[in-house]
Amino acid sequence: MSAAAPPRLRLGVNIDHVATVRNARGGALPDPVRAALLAIEAGADGITAHLREDRRHIRDEDMARLRREISKPLNFEMAATDEMVGIALHTRPHACCLVPEKRSERTTEGGLDVRGGHDRIKTITTELGRAGVRVSLFIEPALDALDAARSIGAPVVELHTGSWCDAVAHGELDKANREFGRIRVAAARAHELGIECHAGHGLDYDTARKIAALPQVVELNIGHFLMGEAIFVGLPETIRRMRAAMDEGRGQAS
Ligand code: PXP
Repeated sequence: MSAAAPPRLRLGVNIDHVATVRNARGGALPDPVRAALLAIEAGADGITAHLREDRRHIRDEDMARLRREISKPLNFEMAATDEMVGIALHTRPHACCLVPEKRSERTTEGGLDVRGGHDRIKTITTELGRAGVRVSLFIEPALDALDAARSIGAPVVELHTGSWCDAVAHGELDKANREFGRIRVAAARAHELGIECHAGHGLDYDTARKIAALPQVVELNIGHFLMGEAIFVGLPETIRRMRAAMDEGRGQAS
């Protein structure tokens, strides 16, 4: 009997940095919602946006408009704070991805401390779950983080691919292999635990192609690289190329 085909790999497009460019001038353009609509037209399966405490890119009204105007699932990335939980309960996105957040960081630097914040994260996960919002925990690809996610009852985890992508970008081959090994093991473990597995941070065409070959990973969330490429070839073409790279990698899944 032949093995079942791996599930389709979804592409979530993070549009935060369209808002970064807009905010650089303080006006209304470029509009992140327009980017979201265009990304969906070009093949994105969902849109991700991170409402940070300091509102450095996405703002409250962007999130509200995304919820109203896009036809595909909205993934609301946020810190585990009372303020954000309140906004999420009001917005009712398809999903919330809980991330650690430090004011001084340039981007989300590490995975969530699921063990340390266990009770609080569990309360938030349950509360949002009751409101019909799927909660995903952004974690390091580590077995203890997965066990903690399981004990919280999180339906989804997103594995932080930043260390792997940085090692690839710096040509640190041994480290890159080690980091990819951690991701492979963590994805398999998530699957065993019955937790849906997503991945993201720092992905480009090559790393997305490679991680697409892991059949347990069912969604990639990608932002910075796509928006950078879009400057040169346009957003629709960038999304099409990313989709092609992911499909090519998925074809290698065993
Ligand atoms: N997933 C999460 C949880 C993130 O915090 C980010 C960065 O905002 C991404 C994915 C996308 O990372 P990048 O912009 O490097 O593609």
